[in-house]
Amino acid sequence: MKKKYIIAFDQGTTSTRAIIFNDQGTIRNIAQKELTQQYPKHGWVEHDPIEIFEAQQATFREVIDTSDISIEEIAGIGITNQRETTVVWDKTTGEPVYNAIVWLDKRTKSICEQLKSQDLGAYVQKNTGLIIDSYFSGTKAKWILDNVEGAFAKAQQGNLLFGTIDTWLIWKFTNGKVHATDHSNASRTLLYNIIDLKWDEKMLEALNIPHSMLPTVQNSASDFGTVELDGHKIPICGVAGDQQASLFGQGGYKSGMAKNTYGTGCFLLMNTGKKPFHSKNGLLTTLCASLPDGKVKYALEGSIFVGGASVQWLRDKLQVIDHAKDTEEICKTTTSSDDLYVVPAFAGLGAPYWDMDAKGAIYGLTLDSGKNDIIKATVDALAYQTRDVLDAMIEDSGKQMKALKVDGGATANNYLMQFQSDILNVEVDRPKMLEVTALGAAFLAGIQAGIWNKKDIAKIRQVDTIFEPAITEYERNKKYTGWKNAVARTKSTTN
Ligand code: G3P
Repeated sequence: MKKKYIIAFDQGTTSTRAIIFNDQGTIRNIAQKELTQQYPKHGWVEHDPIEIFEAQQATFREVIDTSDISIEEIAGIGITNQRETTVVWDKTTGEPVYNAIVWLDKRTKSICEQLKSQDLGAYVQKNTGLIIDSYFSGTKAKWILDNVEGAFAKAQQGNLLFGTIDTWLIWKFTNGKVHATDHSNASRTLLYNIIDLKWDEKMLEALNIPHSMLPTVQNSASDFGTVELDGHKIPICGVAGDQQASLFGQGGYKSGMAKNTYGTGCFLLMNTGKKPFHSKNGLLTTLCASLPDGKVKYALEGSIFVGGASVQWLRDKLQVIDHAKDTEEICKTTTSSDDLYVVPAFAGLGAPYWDMDAKGAIYGLTLDSGKNDIIKATVDALAYQTRDVLDAMIEDSGKQMKALKVDGGATANNYLMQFQSDILNVEVDRPKMLEVTALGAAFLAGIQAGIWNKKDIAKIRQVDTIFEPAITEYERNKKYTGWKNAVARTKSTTN
């Protein structure tokens, strides 16, 4: 039977999915489960690693069983994942020693302060491409070793393993045979040297993390072992962090290509080519998904912590909307909120501000402000935050951007896409197929499995709509200046 399908496992912050793609890059079936969010303390965010694995197993089974595709027709599996989220587990029992500490979690602020007091900031930026912030995995792993009874001793004896979610899933699906990650995920740990392409001894020492815990780092399109289902072995042959996967899925293996993904957060990445480019404006340097030739490329990244999560906040906490999609009509019909700004610093502020202590705020309320005005200002904040990072990227790269490729759930909102184009003064290019993260992982697996070569990707992508700027320079400047003032007032005084 011809093997012409790829399954992408897409393990994101809020959901776990399995998606079957055919050899044209078209979705044939999807299975999905929501992921429980745990908030044990203020600023802490955790996931249950066992729930993640079991949900991925269940969606894998369901996506096959509810399609007319047989397991024998699956050529390979691509894994893409929420990045930075950290799991430490016992290599003998396979049990996590603690919940997964999620990328949004802020508990490691004091560990970050210690690193800063050792003057490691410049070293971190040059060698890991990152900045010292609780966002990344390294301080989370240290927190687990320091706070779970007996964990550090066990780690020193070589009995504990560390991984981001890709590594955890690979290890579980291969029954503990493969402990590996790819370049894109490794580059988010604060422990990986993106210049030398190896684990960074100085960072391991600074955080007191034993080398024996670390996974092998491979090309994103390479062999990560096999998964067994109904007696059939399917190779895991593509792995990438979700943002690098969507950059790849948008055709961003070429230098100069940029995309913005609107997920839980918003992540704007631009492929800057074979040499790392270090930002002077608060952006990160990160590794792109790597191909079988092993030649790595770098990207500049603007990481915005709260994007779609703020719309979930409107739905679940404020309870002013029933569904995220309701926001489009509300925004289109609400006209009185021009001076109202919501700064969704619910998990501090990421790029380009990097303020772990900032808290969310609303400015410009008057007696006639209603819930629809707050809804609209929350949606607008996705576009303003994107402008913040795009401006930083233009300043760093010296390249003016003509069009921005977009993907992710919130791009279905036509109001937001038009406002995004207005506030950036660039075209916003939305593809027909919005599941670009999963498609990117599928492409990586399909390249390794011999179904595609990278040039096929550009042929598969189809434009749905190009949104063009439609407001005056005066209006754009007025709105954006208001936003910048709101952010300035939101920043913590301790930063
Ligand atoms: O760096 C965090 C990012 O990988 C999370 O992505 O899609 O869950 O917002 P997402």
